[in-house]
Amino acid sequence: MRARRPGLFISFEGGDGAGKSSQIGRLADHLRRLGMTVRVTREPGGTDNAEAVRKLLVTGKAESWGPLAESLLVNAARADHLDRVIRPALDRGDVVITDRFADSTTAYQGIAGGLGEATVEALRAIVVGDDEPDLTIILDLPVEVGLSRARGRGDADSRFESKGVAYQERVRQAFLAIARKNPDRCVVVDATPDEASVFDAIEDAVGKMLGARQ
Ligand code: TMP
Repeated sequence: MRARRPGLFISFEGGDGAGKSSQIGRLADHLRRLGMTVRVTREPGGTDNAEAVRKLLVTGKAESWGPLAESLLVNAARADHLDRVIRPALDRGDVVITDRFADSTTAYQGIAGGLGEATVEALRAIVVGDDEPDLTIILDLPVEVGLSRARGRGDADSRFESKGVAYQERVRQAFLAIARKNPDRCVVVDATPDEASVFDAIEDAVGKMLGARQ
């Protein structure tokens, strides 16, 4: 639990094509209308250095990095992102909404990639420390639906999508397991309905969290 910094830290997680970016846009607009200063960011990425690392990770062949190398790269990017963007914004009292954070490393590298939770959790403790999100929204939907949405985007950042359906299914189950282990921080939202209904569920979760902090 992060107690020291005055800001609010929200992460969005889920498989590829779960609709995180549109929901993050809606939530940012909503919180700005309530008068909050909102910083939207993403992982891997969020700083120039971390975006350069992102390019190494999300392009190229599926087998070009193993799970240990992947987790070291995302953690290097995360350390820079935390130092330059996330911690300063939280210290100013801003809301930070990040499209993916450390749960993605647990799900993709630790569980689906087979690196093991002990290694990813050890790295997480070093890199993230006490600066864990106040709230994590996990957008859940069947793998085939997510992959077809992600392919529909037709972007070049498709290295993880290309790891196949079995890998993506392990990612989905991993996020659900993370939610069960961290019920105080994580809320699972069904991402299959239309965008507006999905957002209603997110708004509800954020409202409860804001209420609990007052
Ligand atoms: P995005 O396209 O959802 O922004 O994420 C890029 C890819 O990076 C996505 O397929 C998941 C992957 N990823 C990891 O494997 N480990 C991580 O720690 C993070 C943050 C992302």
